[in-house]
Formats: sequence, structure tokens, C-alpha cells
Amino acid sequence: MSSLKNYSRRRFLTQSGLGLVAFAGMPGFLQAMEGMHGMPKLTPNKASPNFKPDVEFDLFCQSGSVSILPGQQTQVQQYTALLKTGPKETLTNIAGSYLGPLINLQKGQKVRINLYNKLTEPTVTHWHGLHVPANMDGHPQFTIDPGEILVYEFEVLNRAGMNIYHPHPHETTAKQVYHGLAGALFIHDEEEAKLELPAGEYEIPIVIQDRLFDEQNQLIYARNMHDRMTGFYGNRILVNGRPDFQIDVASRAYRLRILNGSTARIYKLGWDDGTPLTVIGVDGGLLEQPEVKPYVMLAPGERLDVWADFSGRNEGSQLVMRSLDFSGVLPKMAGRMGGMMHANALPVGSNYPVFTARVTKKVSDSPKLPSQLSKINWHPISTTANPDKPLPIGISEGPMAMLLNGRPYKFDDIQDFERIKVNTIQLMEIFHAHGGSGGHGKESAPAAEEHGGMGMMGGMKHGNDDQKGNGQGMMGMGHKGGGMGMMGGMKHDDDDQKSGGQGMMGMGGMGMMMAMAHPIHLHGQQFQIVSRSVSADNAADYATVRDGFIENGLKDTVLVMPGENVRIIKPFQDFKGLFMYHCHNLEHEDMGMMRDFLIE
Ligand code: C2O
Ligand code: CU
Ligand code: CU
Repeated sequence: MSSLKNYSRRRFLTQSGLGLVAFAGMPGFLQAMEGMHGMPKLTPNKASPNFKPDVEFDLFCQSGSVSILPGQQTQVQQYTALLKTGPKETLTNIAGSYLGPLINLQKGQKVRINLYNKLTEPTVTHWHGLHVPANMDGHPQFTIDPGEILVYEFEVLNRAGMNIYHPHPHETTAKQVYHGLAGALFIHDEEEAKLELPAGEYEIPIVIQDRLFDEQNQLIYARNMHDRMTGFYGNRILVNGRPDFQIDVASRAYRLRILNGSTARIYKLGWDDGTPLTVIGVDGGLLEQPEVKPYVMLAPGERLDVWADFSGRNEGSQLVMRSLDFSGVLPKMAGRMGGMMHANALPVGSNYPVFTARVTKKVSDSPKLPSQLSKINWHPISTTANPDKPLPIGISEGPMAMLLNGRPYKFDDIQDFERIKVNTIQLMEIFHAHGGSGGHGKESAPAAEEHGGMGMMGGMKHGNDDQKGNGQGMMGMGHKGGGMGMMGGMKHDDDDQKSGGQGMMGMGGMGMMMAMAHPIHLHGQQFQIVSRSVSADNAADYATVRDGFIENGLKDTVLVMPGENVRIIKPFQDFKGLFMYHCHNLEHEDMGMMRDFLIE
């Protein structure tokens, strides 16, 4: 435990680009940092003799190298797997990709997965989207050291859908995902099988990620605080681990299973010729009926099931899936100063290609799109345990604070409202709480805003690449009042109203300046979206994304735009224990924008 503690502390200090000197003036911040540790070190779970798996495989996390760009190979971290029991379709490799194998499971199967940590750092794997017991969910408390093996055993309870498996170690999730540790996990069931949707070569996984390469084709990752505050953005879009991805299709219908596996980048997916997208499913599986959208927003962690019909298109024609123009997801400051995003990064919200479909074969028949896809078991508000009192998920962001409900992640730090009775259905409200208090207050004091702004400018103005300048900037902020605000905010000084209040006003100012979109993810069962509302101030930006949300499906990750308030209904059935909720901008997650619910 102490080695892990030292490890993450040291890592934070180096990665943040701030020296100890800069921290010395910020006792509140140091205190908050200490609070982020204390993850227990447990003995890894072993196979239980009474569990009789239908499917068993070994899953290895290891270093490797793959050819991505022409020339030198790229060092990566990757999942590889070996099937021990079960149908051979359970695992399919994506040839030449750093991505982990596609995992295919059937609802009702009993699954055992032996996770081998062959890395040189701790890791653990989470099954994003699966409804499994708390101790099988890959919570960071189950992180294993190099050389250790962790055994997962669970029964597949989910309906058909596309899920993700990826690391979830304390404070290093983003870095490990970025270096290649991620894969798609499909669940199949009878409801889906009856539809006879395009399958085999007509069903194509599309895992979208962005990466930044150096001249030697090696991956560059976040080097300073700015990269982590906004999330890290690359200059190349990869699909299934390949640049300039193309699929060759016949002139018929396909099923595209799309996953945003980027650490931070948000896409607005649309076909280049204006053909609308026919959406048949989202995170939690099939919609009840197909929905036709001009474009679809896809944030990190979200999935999309698309019916892409190339019927009637000529041989040799092509259709390009692009990310279209949009605005408002990054802090205004970032735009104004320009320098906040890495100079080579592909700007978020600009228009660029993601992949190309080329029609290479003319065929005469094609399956028909079913008008009824599935039946979803909706939970009306009246069935929730708290119809009048939504459980809060307050987002607050500032130059050095990424919080949920006013607090950075800390193990075993459950607030009263974070305790949930098992087998209840909860109404929840996700909102921007710039006060950082976790309450519903959206306090903003004009005077504080100005001070916060000043402080921020001081902090942000200094070099992206110049570590020393960056440190000084943050120090400068500390002296100007913005920093004071932040320290107050980080300290969670509940007893001292006055200093807490000042802190929050400072945070309020910076929070506004920093306001950005956050994809909020909740572990465990999928939720339904009840309503979304956005403040008038954000209307213009919101207009560039608003037609890209799908509300009529089950979700486990929802993009919350600046000024937006999203109400959801989520069941907490079957399993007790710790289930996380966090921002799936993985840089934010690692900075502490994560909390636990304790289901009891
Ligand atoms: Cu995909 Cu807790 O994460
Ligand atoms: Cu998850
Ligand atoms: Cu976030």
C-alpha cells in the first residue's frame, strides 16, 4: 500500500508539471492530494471451485509494439487473450491492432476471466456497461501489482449490447487506455437474434480514438496540467487502431457498432453527403424503434449502433463519416488563449474525417430495417425511491480541481446521499455546481468571477511546454485571489463558513471560466434519461449539438454540456457494494472527478 501511495504521489507531481515549491503555498491542495490516496491493497480474488464457467479465458495486460503509421513500430500496452473453455467465437482478434480482442458473450453465460498483469505498473480491468457484482466490477481497490493474477467470475445479466473493457487503476486509467488497453465486449441475446440484423462480415466494430505521435511514431501523452484539465487531444484519428480507416462494403445494409474509446475527444458523427444516421442502439443496447438523426454526438465511453444502408449506391462510390462542426464543449478560456490545446492537436469541434466506407461490390438484396427492435423495461418516476428529491451529481471544475459533489475521489469517503438501498430505483440529477459544494446552488458572485478570471489568466498564460513557467503561473494565481478561492474550495472547510464561502466564490468564478462538457458515467445498470435542460447563456453553443442526443435508449454514459442539467432514472438492483460514478473524460477521472456510491 505504501509503495502504491508513493508511486501515485510521485507520478502526480511529475505529470502535473508543477514543482514542490509551487505546492508549498497551497496547504489546502496538498491536503486534498493526500486524501486521494489510501486505496487498500487486497489479496487478488481467486477462482472459486463451485463456479462452473461456460466461458473461461485468460486476459493479459502487457507491453507490445505494433505498426500504426508507416515506418517505425509504436510501443503500446495491450490486451491479448487465450480462450480456455467456451465457443470459439468468444474471442476475435482485430488483425494488426493494439486493441484487445472483441469479446462475444451470450446473456446467461457464466464467465471466468483470469486477468494477468504483465505490465510494470498496477492495473485492474473494468467491464464498462456490465451489471456485475461490486467485487467483479474492476473497482480500483482491486488493482493488482505486476505479476499478479485477478480472477473475475460473473454471470452475464445484461441484454444485448456493446460494452467496453478497459483499465481502472487509481489515477492511471487515462494513461493506460491511451497507450492501448481497451477493447469491445458484445453481449448477445434472443431478442437481438430474432431480428436477424446484419452479422458476420456485415457487422463492423468501429472503435474511434485519437492519438498524438512524435517523429519516431511513438505516442505522446499529457505532459502538463493544461492537457489534463481540458483532457488530452491527439492529432490523428484512429479507428480500430488504424489511421485513415476504410471499410469496403457491398451495396446493402450493414450494422456499425461504434464506440468512442478516446480519453477526452467528443465527436459529432455525420455522413459527409448529408445522409442522416439511422440509429438502432446506444450504450445499453437496442432502442425500441430506429431513430433517424442528422448527426449523433458521441462522447468518450458512449456507444452507437448504426444501421448503415449502402443499397442503391454505385460501385466505386464512397461515403465518409466525419466529425462535424460544433462548439461549447471546451472552456471558453481555452479557445480565447489558443494555447491551451496542444499546438498540433486536431481542434475539438472542427470538421474532419473519421473513416470512409467504399462501395466495392454491387448486390441486389439487402435485409430490411425492422420497425420494432426491442422492448425496454422503462421505470416511471413514480417507481423511484425519491421522486421529489433527486440524488445530486454536481460537477465542478477549476484550474486544479475536478470534482463531483464538491469532493475529489477518495476511497471510503461515502457521503450520506451516496448510500443507496439495494433494489431501489433512483432519480438523479446531474448539473454544474460551480460552487463546488455539491448542493444545487449555482452561486456566482460577479466580483469573485473577475478575481477568479484574473487568477486563471495568470495561471494559464504561461507556457504550455515550459514547466517552470507553468508552475509560476499557478503560484501567481495563488497570490491573486483565484488561488485563494481554489484553496478554500479544495479544503472542504465545512465548519468555517466564511473561508469556505470565499473559496466557493473563487471557484465560482473559475468554474464559469472553465465550464466544459463532461461525459458522466455510472457503473452498474444502465439508466434512462428523463429530461435535459440548458441555461439560456449556453443556448447558442447548445444549438450546434442538440439534435445529436438520443434519449430513447438505455445509457451508462451521458454527455452533460456546459450549463446543462440532466435528470436520469437508474436502478440499483441485485448487488451491494461500491459502484463508481465519474467523468469519462479519463483525464478528469484521474484528476479526481470520480466518487463511489455505496449500495447497501
Ligand atoms: Cu469506462 Cu469507470 O469506466
Ligand atoms: Cu464503467
Ligand atoms: Cu469531465
